[in-house]
Amino acid sequence: MKIIGHTSRLMLRETTTDDGQVMYDLNNDPEVIKYTGDPPFESVDAATQFLADYDHFEKYNRGRWAVVDRESNEVLGWCGLKYHPDNGENDLGYRLFKKHWGKGYATEASHLALQYGFRRLGLDSVIARAVKENVASIKVMNKLGLEYEQDFEDHGSLCQQHRVDKYGYMLLPNDDVEVVIY
Ligand SMILES: CC(C)(COP(=O)(O)OP(=O)(O)OC[C@H]1O[C@@H](n2cnc3c(N)ncnc32)[C@H](O)[C@@H]1OP(=O)(O)O)[C@@H](O)C(=O)NCCC(=O)NCCS
Repeated sequence: MKIIGHTSRLMLRETTTDDGQVMYDLNNDPEVIKYTGDPPFESVDAATQFLADYDHFEKYNRGRWAVVDRESNEVLGWCGLKYHPDNGENDLGYRLFKKHWGKGYATEASHLALQYGFRRLGLDSVIARAVKENVASIKVMNKLGLEYEQDFEDHGSLCQQHRVDKYGYMLLPNDDVEVVIY
């Protein structure tokens, strides 16, 4: 299991089948999946099987990484870069347990994911997509320097796509964020 890096509070690591219970619990909160389009897992076994089948780390050296509190070792949710082989885009995403919202964790974890993408993987740009009403998600994008690019519709919901390129991200003032990539 590979560790991607850390910030002052968080660590990002690859998920394993040991995360089945936590991923089941995460998607089992209707508020957490309200804007994501994902159904809850049917069981802990189904979540564990999903993780067992998840091949993006191996195939693309990126994916949805577990966000771990460095002090308590608790999994707070996930954050990461999803590679879309059909169009070559890399999509930043994040999902945290509700009790951990509003503490800056999604922004902090995303800095790590973006720096891994730009510095380690040599990506030119990263997109992020959200339902327009998902204000918290769009706020996180804006704090990371992602700018509005286009609207699109997904399953009847109006969504927005935002993008940041490596130069735009590097120009962002983020001296307060400690990021160490392994
Ligand atoms: C989206 C999500 C990951 C954000 O996590 P987080 O750790 O709370 O995000 P941060 O604390 O880094 O930043 C959130 C920002 O949105 C703001 N915000 C949150 N809810 C808001 C609302 N309803 N209206 C306006 N601003 C809001 C926060 O104040 C904060 O901005 P600030 O730093 O300027 O105060 C979290 O809400 C979540 O897991 N949601 C469910 C899953 C999801 O929707 N994922 C995204 C799918 S596209």
